Amino acid sequence: MSKKVLIATVKPFAKAAVKKIEKIVIEQGYELILLEKYEHLSELLKAVEDVDALIVRSDKIDSEVLDAAKNLKIVVRAGAGYDNIDLKSATEHGVTVMNTPGQNSNAVAELALGMMVYIARNCFNGKPGCELKGKKLGMHAYGNVGKCVAKIAMGFGMDLFAFDPFIDREVIEKDGVKCVGSVEELYSTCQYISLHIPANDKTKESINYKLLSRMPEGATLVNTARKEIICEESLMKIFEERDDFKYVSDVAPDCKDKIKDKYEGRYFFTPKKMGAQTAEANVNAGVAAITQIVNFFEKGDTTFKVN
Ligand code: 3PG
Repeated sequence: MSKKVLIATVKPFAKAAVKKIEKIVIEQGYELILLEKYEHLSELLKAVEDVDALIVRSDKIDSEVLDAAKNLKIVVRAGAGYDNIDLKSATEHGVTVMNTPGQNSNAVAELALGMMVYIARNCFNGKPGCELKGKKLGMHAYGNVGKCVAKIAMGFGMDLFAFDPFIDREVIEKDGVKCVGSVEELYSTCQYISLHIPANDKTKESINYKLLSRMPEGATLVNTARKEIICEESLMKIFEERDDFKYVSDVAPDCKDKIKDKYEGRYFFTPKKMGAQTAEANVNAGVAAITQIVNFFEKGDTTFKVN
């Protein structure tokens, strides 16, 4: 029987991505349903009622949504982080959850470097800034995005470091990146720290005063990961104590108003999560998502299953 695939995205994919997904869906004899920019949960609950597969971005998929999705077999998060999906509940509902790792990494990495240049040049306000060349940049985690950041930063002539207990030292060092032995060493060494850890129970609020206060003069924290990994109390304390500290982030912290009131020129926040918001990343992640769905139904392929 024909499968129904729902794309449910509050923040829509680029049109080119939807077109490519649609082409694969039609070729397969499946049916595509599109729910974009929905404002109320009720719209999502109704749309999921009879679909077999669901493609989302940062859209929240919890037990209420899973309860409503009676035929659902698979959810693919078109992107890397799947902290928006209740994995335990999905498993209880017999629903397979996948992500599409690596597909949007370059877009996120380009944003990280873009924000670094912007803040190093005083938000292009006309006053002399500084260059990235020769500065020490530490990748906090060296997964797909960390690796891309390193590659681009190398072109800027930055001195590269990384800490990632899950990746072999040889893998990191073969990219010309120095592997440090502890997270503390990374923060003590690098003026620029780029965050690439996921948000989970272990990492939430883990970027705290103890780490941030280690950063050398001219410290800039670059967050294209999740706002939840930052301890905002610590962030405010560092802003207050050190007038050299800067913070750039893809989406603003909850304490953004306090920062904006007091620390002009030392921060930049995107208005909404924009790291993966490029046509290329949308096409890559969207096509990967539908391909994984087809392979799951037609071949039982569960590569990239996360639950
Ligand atoms: C990811 O985890 O892949 C990124 O944060 C992108 O999220 P988005 O698809 O909501 O832009």
